[in-house]
Amino acid sequence: MVKPSLTKIIYQTLQGGKNLAGLVHKELSTKAMEFLAPGSVPPTDEIPIDLINDIRLSMTRLASLDWEEAEKNLYPKELLFKSPWIEWAYQYPMIWLDLPSTWERRKRNKTRDIPKEINSEIYPNYYLQNFHHQTDGYLSDHSANLYDLQVEILFNGTADLMRRRIIRPLKESLMAYKDHKYDALKILDVATGTGSTLQQIRGAIPNIELLGIDLSEAYLKKASKSLNNSNEHLVQLIRGNAEDLPFPDESINAVTCVFLLHELPPKARQNVLNECWRVLNKKGSLILADSIQVSDSPKFLSLMENFHKSFHEPYYKDYINDNIDSRLEESGFRLIEAKSHFMTRVWHASKL
Ligand SMILES: C[S@@+](CC[C@H](N)C(=O)[O-])C[C@H]1O[C@@H](n2cnc3c(N)ncnc32)[C@H](O)[C@@H]1O
Repeated sequence: MVKPSLTKIIYQTLQGGKNLAGLVHKELSTKAMEFLAPGSVPPTDEIPIDLINDIRLSMTRLASLDWEEAEKNLYPKELLFKSPWIEWAYQYPMIWLDLPSTWERRKRNKTRDIPKEINSEIYPNYYLQNFHHQTDGYLSDHSANLYDLQVEILFNGTADLMRRRIIRPLKESLMAYKDHKYDALKILDVATGTGSTLQQIRGAIPNIELLGIDLSEAYLKKASKSLNNSNEHLVQLIRGNAEDLPFPDESINAVTCVFLLHELPPKARQNVLNECWRVLNKKGSLILADSIQVSDSPKFLSLMENFHKSFHEPYYKDYINDNIDSRLEESGFRLIEAKSHFMTRVWHASKL
């Protein structure tokens, strides 16, 4: 039997610790809500033990694949250990301080509690909501500062592992440009948020030109702080709507888009896919990652149901029953593959 290396043991221990920390936080915050704000407790279904075991197995598989793909040099192993630990230590108490207002919004079903100073005319109406009951929606520095840690807790420490599942199809898609050097190619990350997906891409493909677009200025400022603070190439971050990308036709070599579609109404979902197709070069591919859906992961249906019962996710129910393969085809894409990894499904669709 081959003995696991020390680095692998450290990685597994780290992931185990993150899983546990996420679970403990959820348990404690639920107990606090039941005690302090009983009217805010969402009507979720109990998760049976068999399903809990399936979830654990699926998480373990995700971590094994993450390790395996690092071993195959799809990305450096350092990426597996890279997290803003000190920042998170400062932000963790803020998450607790923020909880009472989240509970209050859930109890009162207040879903449009957005900062007053926001110019609502520059955003689509569907965007002006408190997704996940989040304070200020996506529209403040406060929200941007807490977002990454909140997602990390939600996914029990697996958020970046799921984001890294786009690396293999992304690198495969760039093989279409094998006559070009990486530094002559452009990748656009649509709905880049605080830039976590771009961090993973840059770790895996350091010399490529990276662009990110998002509707939230606050999230882009946060992304800029973490992406543009070193000697590495400047990442261009643009505020704009993914339904109307401010790039010429066929000007981008690969597009990525992670965790956006489930937050869009169906029409906007299709518009975004159409725009990704338009800006892609003829040899280009779209690598899409979002929540698993009912058709590919029926055994996790109760988790999907609980997610939208617990968090304000107005378009999630429609999304989990949507046919993304058909939407991609409608935009003009040819589907190469779609695979699910724990709570995330990844699509690789090409233009050719
Ligand atoms: C769940 S977050 C995902 C962020 C990031 N991709 C990640 O992996 O963490 C959704 C992001 O989509 C952005 N967004 C929502 N609708 C958008 C639209 N129509 N155009 C551009 N960005 C949008 C939000 O501002 C937010 O940053």
